[in-house]
Amino acid sequence: MVLSGVEVSKHDSKETCWVVIHGKAFDVTEFLPEHPGGMNIILKYAGKDATAEFEPIHPPDTLDKYLDKSKHLGLVDMNTVVKAEEEEDPEEADRLQRVEDKPLLSQCYNLMDFEAVAKNTMKRGAWGYYSSAADDEITLRENHEAYHRIWFRPKILVDVKEIDTSTTMLGTKVDIPFYVTATALGKLGHPEGEVVLTRAARKHNVVQMIPTLASCSFDEIMDAAKGDQVQWMQLYVNQDRAITERLVKHAEKRGCKALFITVDAPQLGRREKDMRAKFTDQGSSVQSGQTTDTSQGAARAISSFIDPALSWKDIPWFQSITKMPIILKGVQRVEDVLRAVDAGVQGVVLSNHGGRQLDFAPSAVEVLAETMPVLRNLRLDRKIEVFVDGGVRRATDIIKALCLGARGVGIGRPFLYAMSAYGDEGVDRAMQLLREEMEMNMRLIGCTSVDQLNPGLVDVRNLGAHVTGVPTDNLGRKVYDPLVTPAWKPPKSSKL
Ligand SMILES: Cc1cc2nc3c(=O)[nH]c(=O)nc-3n(C[C@H](O)[C@H](O)[C@H](O)COP(=O)(O)O)c2cc1C
Repeated sequence: MVLSGVEVSKHDSKETCWVVIHGKAFDVTEFLPEHPGGMNIILKYAGKDATAEFEPIHPPDTLDKYLDKSKHLGLVDMNTVVKAEEEEDPEEADRLQRVEDKPLLSQCYNLMDFEAVAKNTMKRGAWGYYSSAADDEITLRENHEAYHRIWFRPKILVDVKEIDTSTTMLGTKVDIPFYVTATALGKLGHPEGEVVLTRAARKHNVVQMIPTLASCSFDEIMDAAKGDQVQWMQLYVNQDRAITERLVKHAEKRGCKALFITVDAPQLGRREKDMRAKFTDQGSSVQSGQTTDTSQGAARAISSFIDPALSWKDIPWFQSITKMPIILKGVQRVEDVLRAVDAGVQGVVLSNHGGRQLDFAPSAVEVLAETMPVLRNLRLDRKIEVFVDGGVRRATDIIKALCLGARGVGIGRPFLYAMSAYGDEGVDRAMQLLREEMEMNMRLIGCTSVDQLNPGLVDVRNLGAHVTGVPTDNLGRKVYDPLVTPAWKPPKSSKL
């Protein structure tokens, strides 16, 4: 039997709540209090079609996994379904015009150009989620600026006719020493989501790290890989360890080659821009005693399952459930790198989560400069692979990190922005630009292969000077949003 829109629309309250997703009705009444994003957002779509809101945030297998089959009510005649009222958004027409008028892809000459185009073409909520960072966004800016405080000491008169930018990471040969790091909610930027990144990673022979909170399902992202393409898994550890164990074992079975456990997010940072972009409906009249704050943006809405009790004591358990190499993602001090070596993990990512967690956490590259001499002194530098991420926008940044001893660097936002602004072609061009920059800059500092990069090629004397100066490039000057203050109601006279 096909349900009519009229029938569905009767179930529009907390007492009986149905929603339509992809042409099918679901009874979510009992699920309301459990929804990680809070119940208000569901109630906004009660009795209506919720597909557009649901799609970017939930992998397609979500309903099968979390909603009992008895609540799957079957097909709906979509011609009769009430469309959720589009909120009036005076900015939307302007945005669509900007999408139309955006620069040609060939006019993007570096990764920052993609960031600038995305800022002006993405929907406000999506831009808010991708670009936001913790508190005053000091660490966000520092991540990028720290690279500006490292200068080269180039060699001359080296035969640099042939340049080889390839290297290995966790045993995998890659063409360029970066990987696509895990970033959640790919469908906020592009209707196909993370698989766009999978395809580009394959083309350039680099690794993609699959996020726990991807918009596509894990299997869709694995299925999008071709041949011997390597993918890693990023894990947010669930309070329910049985769920975590299932995910990890499934990833290993599907051929994932490493497990990156995120260790810098016992609670998600306050990302005020994301909150202000109001991902969920703060103004809803529905009140409830729920503990999840539904007015805090996309980040909060998706993360309430993460276990704040995760600790060093859990590492042996992870080692017992998988043979994949384990890498701790989000290490922020040399002492913890040493502890990671002791714990017997295979790697660390020095990272502050793109400035989205603890504001005033140091940049990864600064921690790297402190860490590697200690590891070398203790002869531990070959026991563990050290990666960095955060603020990497130029191949010179990659080269600096490699000179200081990083195995590879993770790049997050730039590929999201390239994908959001230009889809597959955008990510392809972003990676191609990095490849060309990499080759040219290796030539200009006098190195023909990655193994020749060494600390003697960089001057880090100024790295520790945390002076907040005037931004010196387009990211600081044109792309990063100034911090904003609460919005005022529009003046009454504006309605005249
Ligand atoms: C929109 C967005 C979503 C992210 N989602 C995750 C995530 O789900 N898990 C995680 O471990 N890190 C996540 N990160 C952090 C990235 O893996 C990485 O540490 C950071 O983006 C690096 O900084 P960059 O964006 O300047 O390259 C996210 C970052 C962004 C920007």
